[in-house]
Amino acid sequence: MSLLRRKSVEQSIRDTEQPEHQLRRELSALDLTVFGVGVIIGTGIFVLTGVAANQAAGPAVALSFVVAAVACALAALCYAEFASTVPVAGSAYTYSYATLGELTAWIIGWDLILEFVLAGATVAVGWSQYFAVLLETLGVTLPAAVTGGEGGVFNLPATLIVLILTGVLIAGIKISSRVNAVVVTVKVAVVLFVIVAGLFFVKGGNYVPFVPPAEPASGGAGAGVTLLEAIFGQAPANFGISGIFAAAALVFFAFIGFDIVATAAEETRVPQRDLPRGILGSLAICTALYVAVSLVVVGMQNYTELDTAAPLAAAFQAVGQPFFANLITVGALAGLTTVVMILMLGQSRVAFAMSRDGLLPRWLSRVHPRYGTPHRITVIVGLLVAVLAGFIRLEELAELVNIGTLFAFVLVAAAVILLRRTRPDLPRGFRVPGGPVIPALAMVACVVLMLFLTVATWLRFLAWMALGLLVYFLYSRRHSRLAHGAQGHPSMPDQPDLDTGFGSASPPPR
Ligand code: ALA
Repeated sequence: MSLLRRKSVEQSIRDTEQPEHQLRRELSALDLTVFGVGVIIGTGIFVLTGVAANQAAGPAVALSFVVAAVACALAALCYAEFASTVPVAGSAYTYSYATLGELTAWIIGWDLILEFVLAGATVAVGWSQYFAVLLETLGVTLPAAVTGGEGGVFNLPATLIVLILTGVLIAGIKISSRVNAVVVTVKVAVVLFVIVAGLFFVKGGNYVPFVPPAEPASGGAGAGVTLLEAIFGQAPANFGISGIFAAAALVFFAFIGFDIVATAAEETRVPQRDLPRGILGSLAICTALYVAVSLVVVGMQNYTELDTAAPLAAAFQAVGQPFFANLITVGALAGLTTVVMILMLGQSRVAFAMSRDGLLPRWLSRVHPRYGTPHRITVIVGLLVAVLAGFIRLEELAELVNIGTLFAFVLVAAAVILLRRTRPDLPRGFRVPGGPVIPALAMVACVVLMLFLTVATWLRFLAWMALGLLVYFLYSRRHSRLAHGAQGHPSMPDQPDLDTGFGSASPPPR
């Protein structure tokens, strides 16, 4: 039964009121929207648009963005309801602890670690590639060994940017949001620039055929086969209608981040009102921009010629506008910086919540006496992301990030339905309209996208989750604060444990 033990919503909210473990409430709906746009627009639009159009969907990549946006919007509604009901740090992790029980909460938390840490590292690698382009324009060439490109050993720029951003995060969330606001403005301006300036170079012929006919995938069977193809015993194929969905499963990465707005619930002034606005607002803005950008880019260049590394800049190079290409490179750099930063922020907040509950060591969640930020977790996350960014390849990880996120969305939608039954009394600042229909559709949409991810991605994902279960049963289950309360410490004070070690985590006396 301990696997099903639940942390009550009231308990979750009470935890946030403990002074030693308290974050500052400073963010408004506008801050949250800026935050959301800051993390949503990134590698997805700047890099993956080219990959998806060139290899999977052709000009119909704009439709892939729409498909992915529909799945995200359905999930976003569920997130908004949950976030407005359980306004504490930790996002999907916290919500599921209150509704689906400890084991599911752990699974989601572990899943979110996969999402944020790997996504942060992935985007940092993308950043370093744009950085290399910028340096080249300035006539500087880094030694091959310390770049992430061909023949590179260690990606130095990616590691350095992560370490710098870790410092910014420790200094405090308000400073981070200000830095973020400036960078987001630059990024959105660049995206708008691509749309408006690009329109002048669009050729109607590039839209024909809009949905290229399906063709066998050149990579051959095996790792590249999607789960759906494997289930039906089909050979892997690109383009056609299924190509639109396969591309949607990839460009889904471009939308990741709106869920992170929910992780800042505990730092939001009026979460019931501001969270739904922040989440849905940032998602709507990004969807409009993505559809427009992808339509313009595939109109500027034939999809077969689109660059897969820096497609937006390359499209302007291709039409003889190197100055515009440089502008876009700078904007992409600024944009990717905020993405890495907020992904790391989201991760540190999830780990913070898990640590406060005792599922991860409790000393991790002590906040800095002066900055009010969870500095210990931030440092650990920063080092982890820096090391991963030093060694991993961007393309291989985007899919893994996506499957983890889609899985979390499925669980969140399920939790919305459950919480309405188990706790109909809780005040909900925001309710998904139409009863259980939208949460159910959100689950279906996310599962469909997951089916279009490769078998290799599924296997990696299952391996990560298996490792998570091992950690849970070997450590977290016994160290959970709820375990203590439930096993003979019903009156255990709600105080944080002020020791710096594992004191609170030792098994309770019998
Ligand atoms: N949505 C973010 C990006 O596209 C993660 O980079």
